[in-house]
Amino acid sequence: MKKIFIAGNWKSNKTTKDAGAWIDALSLPQGTYTAVLFAPYTLLPFLRQEIVARKIPLQLGAQDVSPFSHGAYTGEVTAEQIGEFAEWAMIGHSERRKYFGETDEMLFRKVEQAKAAGLSVLYCVPDEHALIPSGVSVVAYEPVWAIGSGTVESPQAANAVISTLKEKIPSATFLYGGSVTGDSVRSLVSMSAIDGVLPGGASLDPHSFSEIIAHAI
Ligand code: PGA
Repeated sequence: MKKIFIAGNWKSNKTTKDAGAWIDALSLPQGTYTAVLFAPYTLLPFLRQEIVARKIPLQLGAQDVSPFSHGAYTGEVTAEQIGEFAEWAMIGHSERRKYFGETDEMLFRKVEQAKAAGLSVLYCVPDEHALIPSGVSVVAYEPVWAIGSGTVESPQAANAVISTLKEKIPSATFLYGGSVTGDSVRSLVSMSAIDGVLPGGASLDPHSFSEIIAHAI
């Protein structure tokens, strides 16, 4: 039996007040699974505090990381700084590639920084041709057209792409991302190569996020 992995991606959403309301309403199902929430940097200290105080079985991640170590890099947040509050770094999301011009070379540097600081890496790729750096623990396949579109890729098509990716890095856990909801998750994780999902929009609502986990396990 595979261990299901669910990663929520809040993107640039929520204030501390919103995050508090989300935590208050969150009721995660019992069971064996890994759940990680990728939240904005500003919310990580607050979320860490709440998760520890309430013993919520949720790990935390940042949605990006600096390609540099500490120093004169205005605006960047280092892997070491993230590690004070979170276990994970998401690297290579298609929105980072598209809106912020992130190249494979830059992404590989980010992975090096994350690994050196002891963070686990969730690496996002748009197709089966993408380069994947060594040492990433989780790979998320996210077809760009499916992100935020309300249209999920067919489980069979997603499974075919992920099966090809798996040949490059067999030890990694593989997720599908792109308009995942509680309705679509079960058929996705029933596919042989898909170990879990990366919901964006649906992770913003605590009930939808819990429902995705409940339907996946
Ligand atoms: P979506 O986002 O679920 O809103 O399509 C997925 C993602 O971009 O991580």
